[in-house]
Amino acid sequence: MPFPPSFLDELAARNPIEEVVGQYVNLKRSGSNLFGLCPFHGEKTPSFSVSPDKGIYYCFGCHKGGSVINFEMEIEGLSYPDAVRALAKRAGMTVPEDEQYQSRYRRQERLWALNKEAARFFHGALFQPEGAAGLEYAGKRGMPKSTLTKFGIGFAPDSWDALCKAMEAKGYTREEMQASGLVSVSQKNGRIYDRFRNRLMFPIIDVRGNVIGFGGRVMDNSTPKYLNSPETEIFNKRKNLFALNLAKKTRLGYMILVEGYMDAVALHQYGFDCAVASLGTSLTEEHASLLARYTQQVILIYDGDEAGQNATQRAIPMLEKAGLQVKVLKMRDAKDPDEYLRKFGADRFRILLEESSNRVEYQLKAIQKKYDLNIDEERVNFITEAADFVSTLASAVQREVYGNRVAEAAKISPEAMKIEVQKAYKRRLSREKRKQEKIDLAPARNLQTQSRQIRYDNVKSAAAEERVVAAVMKEPALLAEIPELTPEEFSAPILAKVFSQQLQRHREGQDATLTGLTDFTSEEMAHIAGILQRYDGPVNAQALRDCARTIRVEHQTGNVRTEEDIMALRSRLQERKGIKQ
Ligand code: GTP
Ligand code: MN
Repeated sequence: MPFPPSFLDELAARNPIEEVVGQYVNLKRSGSNLFGLCPFHGEKTPSFSVSPDKGIYYCFGCHKGGSVINFEMEIEGLSYPDAVRALAKRAGMTVPEDEQYQSRYRRQERLWALNKEAARFFHGALFQPEGAAGLEYAGKRGMPKSTLTKFGIGFAPDSWDALCKAMEAKGYTREEMQASGLVSVSQKNGRIYDRFRNRLMFPIIDVRGNVIGFGGRVMDNSTPKYLNSPETEIFNKRKNLFALNLAKKTRLGYMILVEGYMDAVALHQYGFDCAVASLGTSLTEEHASLLARYTQQVILIYDGDEAGQNATQRAIPMLEKAGLQVKVLKMRDAKDPDEYLRKFGADRFRILLEESSNRVEYQLKAIQKKYDLNIDEERVNFITEAADFVSTLASAVQREVYGNRVAEAAKISPEAMKIEVQKAYKRRLSREKRKQEKIDLAPARNLQTQSRQIRYDNVKSAAAEERVVAAVMKEPALLAEIPELTPEEFSAPILAKVFSQQLQRHREGQDATLTGLTDFTSEEMAHIAGILQRYDGPVNAQALRDCARTIRVEHQTGNVRTEEDIMALRSRLQERKGIKQ
């Protein structure tokens, strides 16, 4: 069910784009726009723009763009309706939806709120006297306070009713507590008691930031080692992954899938902010497609034992079916990633990661194949190209390890190789700087679109159409200057659609906003935002009328020309056939 236009208008008005974007990007004003470093691609000089007046964002570097809703979708990885709901929540608005949905949603909201209160309670207890054992255990496992806070890790006191009492005091009913899975019911007397006792608590948070369940670990060797929340109305183990709420924001470009909560936590702590863990169940198709929403590549790290290897064999086809590229990392010298990181550190782990994908070794081998190392000249060229590649590696340890390998192959000293790598690094820096300057200086470079899905058949007409669209989005009153122009005369379907929706809104007395546009893909929205950002200056009525004329002339003559072309082509084809026969 689509959201009513008036609701979307209010949503946009109550969520100023500069505020929403400002939560993620440090923005600086420059004229009527704000600029910052694009959160969607790595860059050193800002090409990410926000226009508060137009209510849009647009990156001149990677060409992402759109309305505040598109931004929320993109940055949080949400579907359109979920992004709308998130923004509504942010602005304290109620979403107009059907009754049934409302009541189900209200029920879910109660359970989410209850779980969040419980998470607060557990986290708080960790720093109280009754949580001393938990805090000590967390310390023993190498988790600093920052990690405990980041994951909201807590402690369930060794008591039958500490949580029950606390939640009752917050106004939650017995029925709600039962439905949340936080309590169990005594078979004997029907009383409820805390399900989690004397355990270190890991809250499980979905991609929208709701606490949906918990995993609780004992602090000794007793069993069960982990106790999870049961399946509830809001907790489905088949559909959620631990730490995905954090990992979805990673810039690393891949995700690491592990078995244990502790493994995911340790990976984040050591800088691999792309780690997620399944919830003590085997991987499902739902997990795979959930991951595919956020990444294209998954590195699987399961335990080295037989169970772990079997799980790996089951997981691979599932992930590949979801369109993911899968790499497998075999643990060596440690039981699991948690243990490995604490023993050997992040740099050694990174090398393990690279080897899993075999990217580094593979590429070095490919480079080496091109040269005959017995010929001095080729050997020099090999060193230069290999140094270029090694200089792109992220960590110093990696550069040293692989630099040494190249030095060995090329029979030069490691020191000489190190100098080559440094030179290559400087060369690359200045190359990147020049490239960035080009982008900065020529934001409106070419008119043909960047996107492969949006091509202009008639570039001359499209240029005029872009101007018209930009003008009437900015000042709808200008439509009065071009009363006879119709969407049918446009050559580009996407621009015709914008123009036609804008006409409609204007007739209904609504303002022009990007959020008001309906039925466009994210890619199309980005394209439209790009147009609005490029035609930024004041609008001149005469220029607008000229554009309208161009569109009309191109429409009339452009078609005829094509028709003639087809006719000519046909007769030529027939001629040729005639000759052959
Ligand atoms: P640590 O021993 O604390 O390092 O645990 P870990 O994170 O390395 O977990 P482990 O490899 O032992 O188990 C992997 C995952 O399986 C855990 O994170 C849990 O989700 C799940 N799991 C392990 N033991 C149990 C159990 O006794 N019951 C249930 N339901 N799940 C478990
Ligand atoms: Mn472990």
